Amino acid sequence: MHTSKSLILVLILIGSIQSGMVAEQKFEPNYDESKVPDYTLPDPLILSNGDKVIDTKTWNEKRRPEILKLIADQVYGKTPARPGPLRYQVVESSDEALGGNAIRKQVRVFFTPDKAEPKMDLLIYLPKAADKPVPLMIGLNFYGNHTIHSDPEILLSESWMRQNDDKGIVDNRATEKSRGTSASRWSVDLILDRGYGLATAYYGDIDPDFDDGFKNGIHPVFLKDGQEKPAPDEWGSIGAWAYGLSRAMDYFEEDEDINQEQVAVMGHSRLGKSSLWAGAQDERFAITISNDSGCGGAALSMRRFGETVGRINRVFPHWFCDNFNTYNENEDALPVDHHMLIALIAPRPAYVASAVDDRWADPKGEFLSVLHAEPVYKLLGTSGFGATEMPELDQPVMGTLGYHIRTGGHNVTDFDWKAYLDFADEHFGR
Ligand code: GCU
Repeated sequence: MHTSKSLILVLILIGSIQSGMVAEQKFEPNYDESKVPDYTLPDPLILSNGDKVIDTKTWNEKRRPEILKLIADQVYGKTPARPGPLRYQVVESSDEALGGNAIRKQVRVFFTPDKAEPKMDLLIYLPKAADKPVPLMIGLNFYGNHTIHSDPEILLSESWMRQNDDKGIVDNRATEKSRGTSASRWSVDLILDRGYGLATAYYGDIDPDFDDGFKNGIHPVFLKDGQEKPAPDEWGSIGAWAYGLSRAMDYFEEDEDINQEQVAVMGHSRLGKSSLWAGAQDERFAITISNDSGCGGAALSMRRFGETVGRINRVFPHWFCDNFNTYNENEDALPVDHHMLIALIAPRPAYVASAVDDRWADPKGEFLSVLHAEPVYKLLGTSGFGATEMPELDQPVMGTLGYHIRTGGHNVTDFDWKAYLDFADEHFGR
């Protein structure tokens, strides 16, 4: 009796450690600026051999590949190459969408040359009145394409989703009630009025967002014979979501209505982490936008303000590569920080947005990443950033690097979209 009771207790304890409960009961985010420890950021313009990078050639040929590899190996994991050509199927389209103002296309992207799964459904709206090809904003969504607008013609996603009563999810599937439930985050009319197209896909089509040992989604396609899960330096879910964005870009290159030179990739929160990693790796994205991406996205890990590396790795063990765990409560050992992720986007424009009440995402840490990426932008001959201090609330700064901190909390609002469109207009010469 006694032994079996202790055994049960031990099993419960092991179970809670595994689920992160024990560690998380103790996690108290630091929101006190005076308690941010001293830290020394790695210099994006010093090569690992100690030499300074003083010209574009050395940046492009030596330092950029070095940083790209460090971030892949230590943070998000390496991204595999595309396994042959993709297949696309236009599942639905209309020239009379949204009251006749828009063209709608729903395109199924098959991730392998020969199988029905995995696949991702792209929803694309294009402004009907605009001359083609049009510039485009692409962003992944959290609960299916049908949530971004109440348009009844959007295919209702059949994919697995996280349970969420407010979004009308029943038994992990969308229902008719789910339609339009995320519309406030997608300023579709504004985007179309400004002459831009909008494309979106459900992130769970690429990899469902739960820790299942990478059995579902896109990872199994790339496992070698006998390999059970990605190696410690191979991609997790954020890597997969970024990969999906690049496959959407592959499709845009085939669509004559879309200006492939003017595609901006945008993402919110975990999907902002993904848009940054997509924009860093895939130079076809002309502009990269991070909305409230926080820890593991735009925010500096070394500041340890709000969410931390250890906390994010324990609660979301599938997001990053296993090597990232090396830095749990050990941020000073990082050979890179997230200013270098933004530097990888240079000289292409990048915009980072924070919200003042979103302290969990560390607005100041997001700002500082942009600031410390600026030397690379300057070296490459761009206008850089332009700010040296955090701007006032709701006052966007727009150099080649852009930033704002808006009133309110963790969300995507019309204010954010308007800033992104202004920034894109500026850089696309519109
Ligand atoms: C959690 C997580 C964040 C993430 C956010 C989101 O809050 O801790 O890192 O950005 O979820 O994606 O909504």
